[in-house]
Amino acid sequence: MSGSKDLLRRSAQRLQRAGIDAALLEVRHLLAFALGRRMSEVAYSADIDLTPAQEASFDKLLERRAAREPLQRLLGRWDFWSLELQMGEAGLIPRPDSETLIEAVLAHRPDRSLPLRVLDLGTGTGCLLLAVLSEYPKASGLGIDIAPEAVALAAGNAARLGFEGRASFRQGDWALGVKERFDLVLSNPPYIPSSEIAGLEPEVACFEPLLALDGGADGLDAYRHIAGALPGLLAPGGLAVLELGAGQAASVAGLLEKAGLRVRGLRPDLSGIERAILAEKRI
Ligand SMILES: C[S@@+](CC[C@H](N)C(=O)[O-])C[C@H]1O[C@@H](n2cnc3c(N)ncnc32)[C@H](O)[C@@H]1O
Repeated sequence: MSGSKDLLRRSAQRLQRAGIDAALLEVRHLLAFALGRRMSEVAYSADIDLTPAQEASFDKLLERRAAREPLQRLLGRWDFWSLELQMGEAGLIPRPDSETLIEAVLAHRPDRSLPLRVLDLGTGTGCLLLAVLSEYPKASGLGIDIAPEAVALAAGNAARLGFEGRASFRQGDWALGVKERFDLVLSNPPYIPSSEIAGLEPEVACFEPLLALDGGADGLDAYRHIAGALPGLLAPGGLAVLELGAGQAASVAGLLEKAGLRVRGLRPDLSGIERAILAEKRI
């Protein structure tokens, strides 16, 4: 048996050497997971005795993390907005930056009793759609993803969180074949220029699905598809809220205007980067 305090210290040093910044915090997450305990129970001040089996399972996790597999994938779950979501290989790990889209929706549609029909293009884990449904109890929606495994992941998250009656999911190529009109269209499309992907942090470049990252030569391929489809998808007075990569606001605004939409504004994330763009159909 060995004590957790010394283990935490040694393990944090190992992750630091592997280039991980928040090493001690991440080690606490992994230790809590390996022990089936809460984070608060594996504080640095607590010296828990680990059995050899617990130590072996923690060591495996640590090794994978030192090889830069993302913490969220090792834990198999991660929080987005107020929801705990199951992670899977086909779904991008939801980022706090994407919560900017939910804030934008709440700011532009303050009446929570609206029976919004919501479309989420490139739904991944289903995080955007499910977060909106959690804020508007009468809303319902459809999530589409080209990856069938992502569709299954999102549907599983919806069922686990009790949204299965208000959320449906299907495989599709953006909105191809969708005939319905929506009050709200959300999307966090792939927006990294292809040539930049290999240079990203290993957690992203090696472990996130390429389909969730690759935005084509200039990063804007998906926006071209989505902007072109939006006039046919939005109901009168409907709102589109799209996530942006850093520095993409002007180009995406241009694509939306060219498609006949009126850009209503931009919303920065917590780092001050213009992260969400809002557009409405001209009446
Ligand atoms: C950046 S991820 C966003 C996932 C999730 N909405 C989020 O915010 O975390 C983009 C998603 O778009 C999906 N995608 C890529 N190309 C697509 C296409 N042609 N049609 C539908 N979905 C697509 C990917 O599989 C991926 O799940």
